Amino acid sequence: MTDVDTSKLSWDEWDELQNPPPAEIDFDRLVERAISRRGFLGGVLAFGSAAAAMGTLGNLMSSTSAEAQEAASRFQFKPLPIATDNTVHVPEGYSWQPLAKWGQPLFSNVPDVDPAKGVSLENSDKVFGENTDGMELFVIGGHQVIAINHEYVNPDINLPHTEKGVPQSADDVKILQNMQGVTVMEVAEGENGWQIVLDSPFNRRIHHNTPMTLSGPAAGSDLVKTAADPNGTDSLGTFNNCGAGRTPWGTYLTCEENFNGYFGSTDANFVLPEDYARYGITAETRYAYEKFDARFDVSKNPNEPRRAGYVVEIDPSSATSTPVKRTALGRIKHENAAVVIARDGRVVVYMGDDERGEFLYKYVSNGIYVPGGDTSKLLDEGTLFVAKFSDDGTGEWVALTPESTGMKMDEICVFTRQAASKVGATTMDRPEWVAINPVAIEAYCALTNNSKRGIKKNAGGDEMPVGGPNPRAENEYGQIVRWYPENDDHADAKFKWDLFCMAGNPDVHKDAYAGSSNINSGNMFNSPDGMMFDTTGLLWIQTDGEDSNEGDFAGQGNNQMLAGDPVTGRIERFLTAPKGAEVTGQTWSADKRTHFVGIQHPDAPFPDGEGKLPRSTVIAIKRDDNAMIG
Ligand code: FEO
Ligand code: CA
Ligand code: CA
Repeated sequence: MTDVDTSKLSWDEWDELQNPPPAEIDFDRLVERAISRRGFLGGVLAFGSAAAAMGTLGNLMSSTSAEAQEAASRFQFKPLPIATDNTVHVPEGYSWQPLAKWGQPLFSNVPDVDPAKGVSLENSDKVFGENTDGMELFVIGGHQVIAINHEYVNPDINLPHTEKGVPQSADDVKILQNMQGVTVMEVAEGENGWQIVLDSPFNRRIHHNTPMTLSGPAAGSDLVKTAADPNGTDSLGTFNNCGAGRTPWGTYLTCEENFNGYFGSTDANFVLPEDYARYGITAETRYAYEKFDARFDVSKNPNEPRRAGYVVEIDPSSATSTPVKRTALGRIKHENAAVVIARDGRVVVYMGDDERGEFLYKYVSNGIYVPGGDTSKLLDEGTLFVAKFSDDGTGEWVALTPESTGMKMDEICVFTRQAASKVGATTMDRPEWVAINPVAIEAYCALTNNSKRGIKKNAGGDEMPVGGPNPRAENEYGQIVRWYPENDDHADAKFKWDLFCMAGNPDVHKDAYAGSSNINSGNMFNSPDGMMFDTTGLLWIQTDGEDSNEGDFAGQGNNQMLAGDPVTGRIERFLTAPKGAEVTGQTWSADKRTHFVGIQHPDAPFPDGEGKLPRSTVIAIKRDDNAMIG
């Protein structure tokens, strides 16, 4: 920190530089190490007491190195400015078209949605659901099949005959239940671009009443038995399907996030079980399921919410296959499930728990993956770990076992948050997607934001101190942490970490809230969320944040998708979303010439235009010269 040019620092910045708060000195060293180790100057990190030098670090990047970076740029597009309008923008030389919209039929005997009437009960499990999220494309016998999540519904849009979308009947509830979950659909590119292949044998809707199997340590446990399922092995439905993942054996992993919001009590005197509080299960719900469907009434079925909050494995190659809830991967508010094979062939799954001060997890299978071999137990038999980050840039994965937690295996799998609290896991700034670099042994997690960092505890009473990978109090911008497993092995219990970027607003702030030195006026954003690497090793970052474009968010515009280069730290804006929408979920066509991206909950009448209803939509983006883009 002594080599910086102090001539341009304000008094406060200079003072900060001279008198760094002791707790942050170590972090500065970490920053310097991260930068030198990655080998790029003007690098990625500068904060804590280094915040004062953030601009200076940027200045340290000589014009020569900037030019070298430019020449070596892997970005094949001219970055976009922000947008505040009601449509999608992609760079010059690229185009987009809608592929699948809320209410669009999957079968030829089903009409497109009439926005004035919504989707009928009869058709509600035969159309593309609402609020698209995580997705994966599978090539099955030459067919391209996308499995895709529908996280939640906007009830007023789906029940236009009701007051503000409040269900009035069991049929109303059933419509909402059917419009969420998962769609599996075949897609094909023809003369008119990409289309859903109507009536494909792969087409299928999975929703809140689809039969599923419970497997792993919690299957058959008293904790998950109900009157309708006395064995505790057969559940109905998957809920709040947020991010996703895929296995090397061709299955889709859908992740249940805010499942708590579907379960409530019709009995005002019912005392909620103690474990509910950690997961936010209360007597009140958003969709009033419990009033019309007793399964969701916890006063009658108190174990029912313990059968949700899992990673669910779906075989997209068979429309009649039964989805499997893999309890060994824990019960949390699962964001996504990023799968990688360890050096010895064991299966590693990284998973974030998206809530303020919750944790980052890793599952490691006992058995190894053998192509063509038996994969049925790989996600049932293994060990769940939780991350503990140290301020010195190291970290460890702590196993959640009966020995380390004092809990039985089924309890660990059902009350996973409580188990992780017992081992002192690091409380994080809302872990969203994990992305694994296919060309380097490293993984990234979007920590979207945490307005309560440094001032409150998490739902389990764990402290949320400022430090480590969560370096800012009342963090409204978010950051992306990455880790490098010891011995280049994702199954290793130790890792080193740094931050790939810290989002911020350099136009508004001059301190750590300006962001890291790879954030500037031209690429700034807030609340990183969806993240995935393409096959070339570029990181595609999607945002779900504050899009007021005012105050602390002035100059950031609508939500967006950016590309990040893990080697140089450079980040550029590729796409802007319509006002109100979140960008979430992405996958690529088999030939990598199309990038599919999800646009969730637009405010405006996107994509059909004025006078129409807003429709959550998957778009297909191509280069006009049909070159590969992923
Ligand atoms: Fe459904 Fe945490 O996003
Ligand atoms: Ca998300
Ligand atoms: Ca989010």
